[in-house]
Amino acid sequence: MRIILLGAPGAGKGTQAQFLMDKYGIPQISTGDMLRAAIKAGTPLGVKAKEVMDKGQLVSDEIIIGLVKERIAQDDCAKGFLLDGFPRTIPQADAMKDAGVVVDFVLEFDVPDEEIVKRMSGRRVHPGSGRVYHVVFNPPKVEDKDDVTGEALVVRADDEETTVRKRLDIYHQQTEPLVGYYKAEAAAGRTRYERLDGTQAVDAVSQQLAALLG
Ligand code: AP5
Ligand code: ZN
Repeated sequence: MRIILLGAPGAGKGTQAQFLMDKYGIPQISTGDMLRAAIKAGTPLGVKAKEVMDKGQLVSDEIIIGLVKERIAQDDCAKGFLLDGFPRTIPQADAMKDAGVVVDFVLEFDVPDEEIVKRMSGRRVHPGSGRVYHVVFNPPKVEDKDDVTGEALVVRADDEETTVRKRLDIYHQQTEPLVGYYKAEAAAGRTRYERLDGTQAVDAVSQQLAALLG
């Protein structure tokens, strides 16, 4: 199964990707996680990306498309994958289409901006695994605090409120047009488009997903 998770920053894509990976045994491809790994490793890509990401802007289409094409060509993606945070511009979506990548589902997570600002202020992440928590809405379990990698939970560099608002603006300008794009793809029978109520609790959103995907 090939799935695109579409939605604003903080809509819950990474949280539900964790659920879907476990349930369907397909890998999560998070372009954000890939970029953060490059930053941590101090690669030339990471150095370039950090500056852009810290400002809440988008990394260039060319770089991102190259990263994703390389990733989906790997063996573990043969049985399917979850695209989390990609595509987020029309050129990125066109690049997938031109490469003949067909997706079974595009799942849009609908969450209002003000709810997102609340979520981001309490987000904590585990850098090694990409697992995502919230201090109130989805607190880490005791066994998750001390992972085998020995890394502690951290606050993401781009979760400061002004940066979150900037990311939301960019989402509305550059990523939201993909809603119309994929609805048209679905109308032409090339994919299925489903909108989920992302304001419900984490488990309730997972249940909506399980009901849709079977
Ligand atoms: P990326 O890492 O993709 O960030 P994002 O899309 O902005 O999304 P987030 O990871 O912030 O949110 P999420 O939807 O995964 O929510 P989460 O599950 O964590 O990208 C970061 C940056 O990298 C970009 O700004 C850009 O610079 C660059 N980049 C990445 N991809 C790119 C691309 N394709 N092109 C160009 N540049 C790119 O949940 C958020 C919080 O809410 C958590 O605390 C969670 O516990 C909580 N929560 C989740 N679900 C619920 C719920 N149902 N109820 C209550 N709380 C919940
Ligand atoms: Zn995420």
